[in-house]
Amino acid sequence: MPEATQNTEQEGGFEPPEGGQNTEQEGGFLAGAALKMTERGKFMSQEYGFDTKKVRAGYEPKDHKYAVSPPIYQTAAYDFRDVENAAALFGLREAGFLYTRVGNPTVAVLEERVKALDGASGAIALSSGMAAVSYTLLNLAEGGGRILTSPYLYGGSADSFKKIYPKFGISFDWARNLFDPDKLAEEIKPDTKAIYIESVSNPNTFLLDIDAIAEAAHKHGIPLVVDNTVATPYLYNPIAHGADIVIYSATKGLNGHGNLIAGLVLEAGRFNWKTEKFAHFDEKYYTLRDAEGNLRSFLDVFPENPFTARLRFNFLNYFGAALGPFDAYLAIIGLETLSERLAKQVGNAESLAEYLKNHERVEWVRYPKLAEGRQGELFRRDFPRGAGGVLAFGFKGTREEREKFLNSVRLFHYHVNIGDSKSLIVNSPQTTHGELEPREKEAADIPENLIRISAGLEDSADLIADLEQAFRAAGLGLY
Ligand SMILES: Cc1ncc(COP(=O)(O)O)c(C=O)c1O
Repeated sequence: MPEATQNTEQEGGFEPPEGGQNTEQEGGFLAGAALKMTERGKFMSQEYGFDTKKVRAGYEPKDHKYAVSPPIYQTAAYDFRDVENAAALFGLREAGFLYTRVGNPTVAVLEERVKALDGASGAIALSSGMAAVSYTLLNLAEGGGRILTSPYLYGGSADSFKKIYPKFGISFDWARNLFDPDKLAEEIKPDTKAIYIESVSNPNTFLLDIDAIAEAAHKHGIPLVVDNTVATPYLYNPIAHGADIVIYSATKGLNGHGNLIAGLVLEAGRFNWKTEKFAHFDEKYYTLRDAEGNLRSFLDVFPENPFTARLRFNFLNYFGAALGPFDAYLAIIGLETLSERLAKQVGNAESLAEYLKNHERVEWVRYPKLAEGRQGELFRRDFPRGAGGVLAFGFKGTREEREKFLNSVRLFHYHVNIGDSKSLIVNSPQTTHGELEPREKEAADIPENLIRISAGLEDSADLIADLEQAFRAAGLGLY
């Protein structure tokens, strides 16, 4: 049987297993739907604190030959025990692993761990943040529709929204009233399928009243999607503020070591998908039939996590952006120090922001802790642990001086990533957001002199000294 059709030749249908049935195999492509109170369930029940979950959730050594560190299951496929087992797996009567494109035990640990950290009902790991963005949008609006979105987005997201999705029938409206959720509601059209925002925007670190935006979305029967990449679950929990879908580029702070590309999609499990607008969630499939042969939908079979289940079986399964087990392992290890890394990065970013705000050659600094007015209020209300390691400033000087400054940094890495353990600096308008046309940059409030910093784990005094010598090398510190 060709691998690509593995879920289409089932025998019989899926009987949701009894709780605890999956004790032999940790996770699987049915994780979340089939598993209730296994060992992992304890972590999902909020019994443990955030830091305990970040090193323990989703993994039981006794299920893996007592290995303390999650093994890397570097395999493409999994032997069937016997013909009955093959039939049960294909019939979705038994949870387990068939083929690493749709599920892998190491990847499942990552999914379960982030699911526990975010308090989600379903999670799926993918091979990049962009796969998380694209599969989410296709799952929401396949066949056509609109997404109401923010001008304050990662450049790759913004450019793809403009250039690629309209060719698939998905159009984007750039919200004019993001900071006024009552008015924002007026921008929701009959065929709008979701609101899509970033919790802490890249590169400007703008904050939004996500609770109020979620309320506006829900009043109109649409879900709120939040890209929580910059904040990470340590600094902000979008689900607790009303989000229905959460996206991560795990390439960034979640993993935190700049050594992999990965993405995740999570769902809160509260949204009512059983509406005309989301009829595709109630579409009946032969592959989801029950023991009597009655066809069923994702809503019937996966009532707690229909979004990520549908994303797994339709988009991951057939579009194929699977995360490799080795990268999943690296992400699991990276997550173990999430709180410690983010706390240090917040401290370093705050020191850098303080230094820059007083610098003669800095026009402005964007960092939520320094913000006044509504941004400052949102920061104090929603970000008690700080708003992350990313900040932006406006370089005061000519283009040549700006380029000399960037060419002169020694300790900072000059490249496009964020959330690494090493500090990074970049001229976003010419690189990460270089796809945006001048009027789009203006709408996104990204002036040409913006420089983005992602604070790492070095000593803040060394980072400040590096910026100072670069200002001087550019001929700017000689006042
Ligand atoms: C906020 C945000 N979302 C999504 C992405 C895309 O993630 P990836 O590079 O892992 O595909 C990025 C990448 O920079 C990002 O900054």
